[in-house]
Amino acid sequence: MKLLIKNISQLLQVRDESPEFPVSGAKMRALPLLENAWLTTNNNLIEDYGIGLFSFGESEFDEIIDASGRIVMPAWCDSHTHLVYAGSREIEFIDKIKGLSYEEIFERGGGILNSSALLHLTSEADLLTQASARLEEIISYGTGAVEIKSGYGLNVEDELKMLRVIRKLKEISPLTIKSTFLGAHAVPLNYKGNQGAYVDMVINEMLPEVAREKLADYIDVFCDKGFFTVDETDRILNAAVAYGLIPKIHANELDYSGGIQLGVKYKALSVDHLEFTGDDEIAALLGSGTMPTLLPGAAFFLNMQWAPVRKMIDAGLAVAMASDFNPGSSPSGNMQFILSLGCIKFRMLPEEAINAVTINSAYAMGVSDTLGSITRGKIANLIITKPISCYEYLPYSYGNNKVERLILNGI
Ligand code: NIG
Ligand code: FE
Repeated sequence: MKLLIKNISQLLQVRDESPEFPVSGAKMRALPLLENAWLTTNNNLIEDYGIGLFSFGESEFDEIIDASGRIVMPAWCDSHTHLVYAGSREIEFIDKIKGLSYEEIFERGGGILNSSALLHLTSEADLLTQASARLEEIISYGTGAVEIKSGYGLNVEDELKMLRVIRKLKEISPLTIKSTFLGAHAVPLNYKGNQGAYVDMVINEMLPEVAREKLADYIDVFCDKGFFTVDETDRILNAAVAYGLIPKIHANELDYSGGIQLGVKYKALSVDHLEFTGDDEIAALLGSGTMPTLLPGAAFFLNMQWAPVRKMIDAGLAVAMASDFNPGSSPSGNMQFILSLGCIKFRMLPEEAINAVTINSAYAMGVSDTLGSITRGKIANLIITKPISCYEYLPYSYGNNKVERLILNGI
């Protein structure tokens, strides 16, 4: 399959060399682009691009797209989701409107435990059907790669069930998918008051099975107030890295949990959420290979405080953004809305926000060598927008779907 896209008004995020490191600090303000451009693909890869009229003969192409008035750019990389789940939690949404906090709902046996009970009753086939529909939805908004976590099983059998669903999605979906084992998402009711024993079970029973079946690329822990302590997280990460799993940590959503520093110590690929990020956390992240990842959809949905993103970027950090698509704190995987929230709530410039949801979020899920920028030889996962004036319109026109077509693997 050979594709030519011509008359592109703006071809965004063009990087001749895929950056080895994420785009950080003041460099996040630069969004390299070509105006009046063309791009060709060969099989699943970006072959070439340039400016002006394409004049090498159009007959060799299987499809030619005229992108006049449209932007072409890399598809979003959504580096943090929980999109394999059963049912939904709109009743808790009402409780939240009436004033209950996320933690109060959890303490009543709701929240993650509610999803866990429902998941237990749902077959692998049904979970696959539900998750596939969510993948279709995020594709319609322009996502081309997604990380998906377990963490609603909370026992060996159900965690494996979730991870097998993710493995199946990897096989059948055109999206690039990474899977993360999040056995330590919450302590299930039968271990209440016995959290240490649950951590032992994650380490001694879940992890060996996950590794044996090669079900996960990454390991995650919800390291925060009311969930798992730094010591417990340390134990789990220590065991997981021995199995070759790279950490990605839920940290500092509810408090200065110490999760960021621990993530850096373990060379985590990313630390995510980060509403509670102070000078010590910024200092720990600077110079590390760990990507600070913001999840503004969760802060929006739960009415939480906003992570100090301006301060983080101005201190020289790179940041990524992801949707956190999950039934409790962010029931949407719309990365265009995340882009808008980045600009509106974090005061990121459009260039910074676009870098955060393409090249930097590709890094945060370990795929920046093949995705996240327009680079020869990278996978042709491309957004073609509806007719729009310029890229600043993308975050500005919040809540509206600006994607006309998504090319995945060159098709
Ligand atoms: O990333 N913070 C922890 N876990 C999820 C929420 C999961 C849920 O409520 O179902 C999150 O926000
Ligand atoms: Fe999450």
